[in-house]
Amino acid sequence: MRMAMKKKGLKVAASLLAVSMAFGTVGVAATANTTGPTSGKSSYSQDQKIVARVDAERAIEHVRYLSEEIGARPGGLAAEKESAEYIYNTLKSYGYDVEYQYFPVADQYIAEVAFADGTSWQMAAGPNGKVSDDAVKGEVIFVDGGSSLNDFPADTAGKIVVMPRAATTAGYRTQVNNAVEAGAAGVILQSLVGSRGNYGQTFNPSLDKKVDIPVFGAAFIQGEWLKEQLAEGPVELSLTAEQFSNLQSVNVIATKAPKGKSKDTKEVILGAHHDSVVGAPGANDNASGVGLMLELARVYKGYNTDKELKFIAFGSEERGLLGARHYVNQLSQEQKDKIEAVFVPDMVATSYEPAKNLYVMTPDGSRNMVTDSTTAAGARLGNSDILPGTFGSSDHVPFHQAGIPAALFIWMGVDSWSPLVYHIEKVYHTPQDTIEDNISPERMQSALDVIGSGLFDVVRKDVPALNK
Ligand code: BES
Ligand code: ZN
Repeated sequence: MRMAMKKKGLKVAASLLAVSMAFGTVGVAATANTTGPTSGKSSYSQDQKIVARVDAERAIEHVRYLSEEIGARPGGLAAEKESAEYIYNTLKSYGYDVEYQYFPVADQYIAEVAFADGTSWQMAAGPNGKVSDDAVKGEVIFVDGGSSLNDFPADTAGKIVVMPRAATTAGYRTQVNNAVEAGAAGVILQSLVGSRGNYGQTFNPSLDKKVDIPVFGAAFIQGEWLKEQLAEGPVELSLTAEQFSNLQSVNVIATKAPKGKSKDTKEVILGAHHDSVVGAPGANDNASGVGLMLELARVYKGYNTDKELKFIAFGSEERGLLGARHYVNQLSQEQKDKIEAVFVPDMVATSYEPAKNLYVMTPDGSRNMVTDSTTAAGARLGNSDILPGTFGSSDHVPFHQAGIPAALFIWMGVDSWSPLVYHIEKVYHTPQDTIEDNISPERMQSALDVIGSGLFDVVRKDVPALNK
């Protein structure tokens, strides 16, 4: 894939200019000088060891493999294992010691909706509906309503009914019960707009009683696509579903040994989740974070570091931060105490225009070595994209709760009239989270530069702990 990228030479010249401006005017630059891990000048030349080498195109090649070659990677399923294997092999090829760390996760109910031409979509299945590989086939009808039996056409029997889901669980249960009474062969509930302003994602319909037809939860866009197809002519679908049990999800852990290790040697972690939600290829969420991590791992391999550096791909983040939680829970207190900083890139390359800044977020807005080192790097590099913020919802949370300094990196926007309202891309958690619709090489490059430089400043030599 070809992408227009900034020329490195031009970028360096522009950065130098911006640095001289930033030191005079921008508050965060002062932070860099006084509390950054090392003084501005010497760090700047160290930054170039990273900035000159990291390449967004290489990172996006990993995003392509994960989101297109593999596709959706729900926690505990085979696709997540494939993703782990890809990450394992890539890190091995760079020369790291790599291991898998497995942990149990709950059952998944996965639906497959197949078209006559052989293509298929992944949705989530209602556990109380028919969950079977014995296919239910039928013609699709769209019913805009369903809260009353009168909403269903006379010829509903034997059809697969697609309905925009009611806002409440009680509401959509009525829709499903009415569809069953009308003789539907299957039901697909179209998701509503999500709680973060995103288009709705797939969901497992929760039914109040067992029904013997498949009941699936579609992403909003899948419902729209079905409507478009219906406008062109009849649509035949084949519905199957499977309950996956006794699941294991997996973290992948690569270790870079420090130059000289003593009992006091500190450890630093760069960790990104590699799973996605059901039905979503997760290009930005979070193949982007993994791509960034792998690209930094490639570049760092060429340098000695004084701290132990771990690259970790966490499994099942989307199922409740399970991989990161498992990782933290199996550490002894002594091991926890050794961890100085945890960098968590999660959604680091969206092309969504309003997401103008790369926020470095802690759950309570506190500063730590992760926020300080990367905002200082941003100031040195003249990169004004990075801003501090307050947010949970990702793998930094279990570390933070264990008292380990950690922060999340994510591109977001804020409204000028209300700085506390964050915006993320509408395709978040949907089938549209693809490279084509949601990945910006420029934003990936900016994240690589600033996270790569901040992290390098933290690991390359021992420095006094910050704000501890
Ligand atoms: N990448 C998101 C986290 C995120 C989204 C942070 C938007 C900030 C703004 C992450 O993968 C996610 O969706 N997390 C889950 C966590 C939950 C299952 C504990 C979420 O927030 O729903
Ligand atoms: Zn995520």
